[in-house]
Amino acid sequence: MLPETTPADDGTPPQPARDRRPAERVGLRADLRAALPDAAAAVLVTVAVFAFLYARMESGDSATVAVMPFMDDPGTYWMYLLSQAFGWSGLLWAWGTVMLGLLLSGPRPDRLPVSRQVLERWHRTTSLTTMALMFAHALMFMAELVRYEAQLGWIERLWAGFADSFVPGWYDSGTGRIAIPLGQGALYLAVPLGLLFYVRHRIGANTWRRLHRFVIVVYVLSVWHTLLYGTNVWYGEWPRTVLWLLQIPVAALLLLRLLRPARRAERLGAPGRQRGVSLPGWVVRACGRVAAGAVVVGLLIVVASGHDGGRERPAEPPSTSPHPHESE
Ligand code: HEM
Repeated sequence: MLPETTPADDGTPPQPARDRRPAERVGLRADLRAALPDAAAAVLVTVAVFAFLYARMESGDSATVAVMPFMDDPGTYWMYLLSQAFGWSGLLWAWGTVMLGLLLSGPRPDRLPVSRQVLERWHRTTSLTTMALMFAHALMFMAELVRYEAQLGWIERLWAGFADSFVPGWYDSGTGRIAIPLGQGALYLAVPLGLLFYVRHRIGANTWRRLHRFVIVVYVLSVWHTLLYGTNVWYGEWPRTVLWLLQIPVAALLLLRLLRPARRAERLGAPGRQRGVSLPGWVVRACGRVAAGAVVVGLLIVVASGHDGGRERPAEPPSTSPHPHESE
């Protein structure tokens, strides 16, 4: 979720010697400070989503309550609602930072409303905010579990909440057995892949760039986790459709970025003719481009057909639910 290029290594033709300045070293502390306005905006968005989810629960429209009828009390389950709200702002910020990253590493638009440096800074600050929002989402889920397990002693309550939220494979109920590790995978990958940028002078710009590419996996895991587990997108209604729709520009930009990367070395030449690219390497790169194209087509089909994996909202509340309180 950080820029793939720096002024010195973005594949532009060599500059005259007098213009060759060392790439400016950007520090984590400075970026954390720069991320404050962005983080404040994220908090406002989270509060707005929380208020929306709270009002839906109070009015009886909540899909979460339709899935888990025992949750029909926003005053008691406010931490769960706050966790959901952080999940949504986290996903929105992840969407934004991935879009910025793809804009920076793909074909250069002729005209941009802001300079490339500003886009790079936004990419870095939104990526820091995304990590914080993801963590807050998991932390509020843990807080809700700790609150809920009132029959246990404090140490056991804290451990149970922590392990279910943060230890991969610990959570052993329903869909969560798959969905929670997907979310944890996204969180645990996001942190190193994002923060390695700040030590790239130690690990080398090329190593950093190679690793940072995998940040798209973080985004895919986050969306997969949400589609699989989010009770507000459980049914085949407008929130699920919007979630699918939002993935089309990401997939389209990813495809463009692969077809016309900003760095010349990443362009796909004729097989066997490209310097430094073996035939198997060329095949892997070509397959990546075909897969990205297939994802764009797949997304269009899902949205156009309405076959998006959403369930029918039942007339009667279901007898089981996907979350820990399902035995209630
Ligand atoms: C330690 C990692 C994580 C844990 C324990 C976790 C836990 C959960 C749980 C229990 C739910 C179901 C809430 C519901 O009833 O809807 C959920 C939904 C969700 N999660 Fe995560 N999650 C994690 C990581 C992530 C990440 C990295 C993202 C990406 C930003 C994310 C975004 C979401 C979203 C958007 C929802 C849907 C909420 C809703 O339906 O209102 N989660 N998560």
